Amino acid sequence: MSEEKVRARMRELVDEISHHDTKYFVEDNPEVSDYEYDMLVNELRALEAEHPDMILPDSPTQRISGKPLDEFPQVEHKVAMLSLGNSYSPDELREFDARVRKWLGGEKVEYIVELKIDGLGIALVYKDGMLVRGATRGDGRVGEDVTTNIKTIRSIPLRLKAGSLLRTVEVRGEVYMPTDGLRRLNKEREAKGEPLFANPRNAAAGSIRQLDPRMAASRPLEAYFYTLSYSDGQIPDTHEKALEAMKGAGLRVSPQTTKHQSIDKVLEHIASWETKRDSLDYEIDGIVVKVNSLAQQAKLGYTAKEPRWAIAYKYPPKQMTTKLLDIQVQVGRTGALTPVAILEPVGVGGVTVTHATLHNEDEVRRKGLKIGDFVLVERAGEVIPQVVKPIVDRRTGDEKEFRMPHTCPVCGSKAVREEDEAVRRCVNASCPAQIKERLIHFCSRTAMDIEGVGPSLVDQLVEKGMVKDASDLYGLTKDDLLQLEGIADKSSQNILDAIGASVGRDFANVLYALGIRHVGRTTADVLAEAMGSMDKLESASVEELSRVEGIGLVVGGAIRSFFDDPRNRKLVESLGKAGLRMEATRKAGGPLSGKVFLFTGELESMSRADAQEAVEALGGRVASNVTKAVDFVVVGRDPGSKAGKAKSMKKAILEERAFLEMVGKV
Ligand code: IVH
Repeated sequence: MSEEKVRARMRELVDEISHHDTKYFVEDNPEVSDYEYDMLVNELRALEAEHPDMILPDSPTQRISGKPLDEFPQVEHKVAMLSLGNSYSPDELREFDARVRKWLGGEKVEYIVELKIDGLGIALVYKDGMLVRGATRGDGRVGEDVTTNIKTIRSIPLRLKAGSLLRTVEVRGEVYMPTDGLRRLNKEREAKGEPLFANPRNAAAGSIRQLDPRMAASRPLEAYFYTLSYSDGQIPDTHEKALEAMKGAGLRVSPQTTKHQSIDKVLEHIASWETKRDSLDYEIDGIVVKVNSLAQQAKLGYTAKEPRWAIAYKYPPKQMTTKLLDIQVQVGRTGALTPVAILEPVGVGGVTVTHATLHNEDEVRRKGLKIGDFVLVERAGEVIPQVVKPIVDRRTGDEKEFRMPHTCPVCGSKAVREEDEAVRRCVNASCPAQIKERLIHFCSRTAMDIEGVGPSLVDQLVEKGMVKDASDLYGLTKDDLLQLEGIADKSSQNILDAIGASVGRDFANVLYALGIRHVGRTTADVLAEAMGSMDKLESASVEELSRVEGIGLVVGGAIRSFFDDPRNRKLVESLGKAGLRMEATRKAGGPLSGKVFLFTGELESMSRADAQEAVEALGGRVASNVTKAVDFVVVGRDPGSKAGKAKSMKKAILEERAFLEMVGKV
């Protein structure tokens, strides 16, 4: 790069970083993720290291950035509150370890590993055991006096435990908002039309810097302490003992702190937290690795902004900015039109994100999104990616408003929005998009669990008119499947087997698979147990349904209107004919439990209904078609074609007498 180009790039980076500093430290409203910010700073540092003579006087690397708000009294930190260096890969952490060992001339090193909580750094001063001051980090040198607000956090002791070794001390730690609390707070803010907090750090910072302490008091804040920065008493000789002393004084210290004898062990531990982090009730953005011995810490000392004895290991970022290329509208199985964000692919939390649901038209409006915007995308835990907000300052004027269509984008029918609903729905129940989504749901793992029948196969089956509803799946033949693209002999057999095997699923699975609005898997289980059969369910009134525990008028109404539709009743009937369970197994554990019978021809000693009852009384089931699930075929007088089919499928054939013996009727 020419000198001129280097200078220009440095200027650009300095301006950009300063802008983000104001957004982050002063306004608590960052526009980019920490990771993206760190990358800018890294690039600037690298350029400055190569061209030290060209460092700009206002470069953020030349000071510890940030500005305290004017409203709070300022406090000077007697010992600067430094930040931590970051590492993003095992190699970088190994380099840190190598540096530490080199500085210590080969001494044995022990590391303490802590979680890096995504919150706000604070310093508390206790005098003679009494809490006298709480301050934010601010720019590291000067922070804000937020004592009154700190005192509203109930887990922070106003007085250290009597008898503790700590009397006049300064301790440092992190104030944070647990995930649940943040979710609740954001719900309340949404209801009031207030802007949402994009992450727990912003929420904690925004809360602790509330000018009205009553507001701060209402926020669910917590704190963990990790540094004993001053003590008038004896100072322990390891970080581990300092943590113990703080704990002994009644300060909250994270229980997730471990000690390791080598960097390899540290790395193993870090890897284990990468997934475990999702089970915590607060967010962490990484892990902090600290040299345990305080004598060694002192030897290692500090650079201008960071300790040489500690480093942060950052997990892949959970937030990134990317471009919102388009908003497309998808049609779900209940006809709901859902706007979906089409994103320029971006890595978030270790996976590439290309789509994110925007839920409904109100959500798009509330977030103020326009097509072409740069947006902040977040993926928290296992949760599906979310578009957090647009970066309004990056707009060029070419962005386009999104308009929710009033017709279905797939079939062109009217899409209407009921008065009390947030979603708009395509009114055409035969809309191909709805049919496909209903089928995909029907075959899904928690429903009928039909392996191999996924979106692309369903697409073809519907396009070719082979399947109009779920019951058609059970009539598919090998010849049908062989007509489809990408289906060879073997896979067609596997698909037929999977469809056949699904016949044996529980009644609750069948109920859930129907895709009745508001009937999720748990509700389906409850209903199956309480109502016992499809017949009962079909004829139940809303009042009867809502008497079932956990079922209210809304769910009851949805079930009633499902069965009031003749098309749905016909579907249920066809599924019954295909042999799907329409009753909860009455005699679980009976001698015929799990066995499936099929009758063909007339029995001499009893009616078909009595025979069915005899089977069910012993825990068995009766199917109406020969499928893979059938165990016994009972052949009476004048059997139909099913007898031949059963023979060719090598099913066990029972004459009437053998059947009667089996059910104990002789
Ligand atoms: S030690 C000089 N330990 O991360 C050492 N910091 O990116 C300073 N943080 O400003 C901090 N958890 O606000 C330390 N277990 C932990 C931490 C932690 C979160 C925050 C802290 C610090 C920032 C640096």
